[in-house]
Amino acid sequence: MKVPFADLGALHREVREEVDALFAEIIDQSSFIGGPHVKKLEESFADYCGTRFAVACASGTAALKLALMAAGVGQGEEVITVSHTFVATIEAVISVGAHPVFVDIEKETYNISVERLAEFLEQECQVQPDGGLINKHSKRPVTAVLPVHLYGLSVDMEPVLALAERFRLKVVEDAAQAHGALYSMDGKERQAGTFGQAGAFSFYPGKNLGGMGDGGAVVTDDPERDRRMRCWRDHGQSEKYVYVSPRGWNMRLDALQGAVLNVKLPRLNDWNEGRRQAAGWYMERLQDDRIVLPVEPAGRKHVYHVFVVRVPDRLRVSEELSGREIQTGLHYPISLHLQEGYRYLGYKAGEFPEAEAAAESILSLPMFPHMTEEQVDYVCEALLEVLP
Ligand SMILES: Cc1ncc(COP(=O)(O)O)c(C=O)c1O
Repeated sequence: MKVPFADLGALHREVREEVDALFAEIIDQSSFIGGPHVKKLEESFADYCGTRFAVACASGTAALKLALMAAGVGQGEEVITVSHTFVATIEAVISVGAHPVFVDIEKETYNISVERLAEFLEQECQVQPDGGLINKHSKRPVTAVLPVHLYGLSVDMEPVLALAERFRLKVVEDAAQAHGALYSMDGKERQAGTFGQAGAFSFYPGKNLGGMGDGGAVVTDDPERDRRMRCWRDHGQSEKYVYVSPRGWNMRLDALQGAVLNVKLPRLNDWNEGRRQAAGWYMERLQDDRIVLPVEPAGRKHVYHVFVVRVPDRLRVSEELSGREIQTGLHYPISLHLQEGYRYLGYKAGEFPEAEAAAESILSLPMFPHMTEEQVDYVCEALLEVLP
């Protein structure tokens, strides 16, 4: 049996007819950028997330940049995040002239460690007479925290928000992998990505909600942030050829992606349930001392964008699985603070032990909404057999 890492084919067979009809309509109208399909997506995605606004844009990376700009993160400021994430998280920080600073992750959830965040704020930073925060070592202002809801699991937001309030930090969320992930706070379930000033989502094809090309969106409750992001994503213009901001860029979403996403969004919850069902089968069958399974802490709903386990000798394991036609992934094999391009940030090996240990031992197993019990069985049997 062949088990792909993700099966977009099954997903697209389900929506093909509707998408074909909409594509034909868009081609007939020859109106490809923005327009009614994108507007509809913005309304329905905001509605889905429970926010007042959603601003569609060209990618998750663009969404992060817009979200940071909208939160007011600026030149020379420091943004606290994690090194165990996709590179776009820090690319976006750097793109607004700010500096990423890292704190370690939690071993069990792979998300930012609230303890390490508190330690960094209390021990490495200093509150200034005006209430602002500076990094004692770099002397730069520390103005924001950027939690990443990695793999489809929400960060433990309540203590993060409490620390952000105490240290007057802005909160910008990277929810690129977490469409539909829930977190309960004050007795209410809320969508990951909706806790801070702005939350960024990616609609890259393989995401839980993905287009047939690149796309992204930022959600916010603030009308002024919404207005500014709309302006920046379209060359800083308020209307055609009227440029009110020099910070604009082309970060628009196209109509074809808007249309695809409108067809897919009503199915997102069902597809997430499909992922959760596959995760449940994995959990049952992989109870083994050699395997560390993902966790779903109380009050959180995991949407398993990827199903990540820790296993001994993971490269050999992944090769053996590949020999049995089972595709696996590594999310992500090298911590960002150890990457050549980010050496200039000044970190050394050993500074973020949990992030580094995760990068060395994780393996992402096949995971997609239409995964069958037989496919999960096949993967589990193979994995248990090849594990050292
Ligand atoms: C955690 C995270 N942040 C940001 C992004 C960037 O999204 P995009 O690829 O749509 O630019 C991704 C996408 O892979 C991601 O996984």
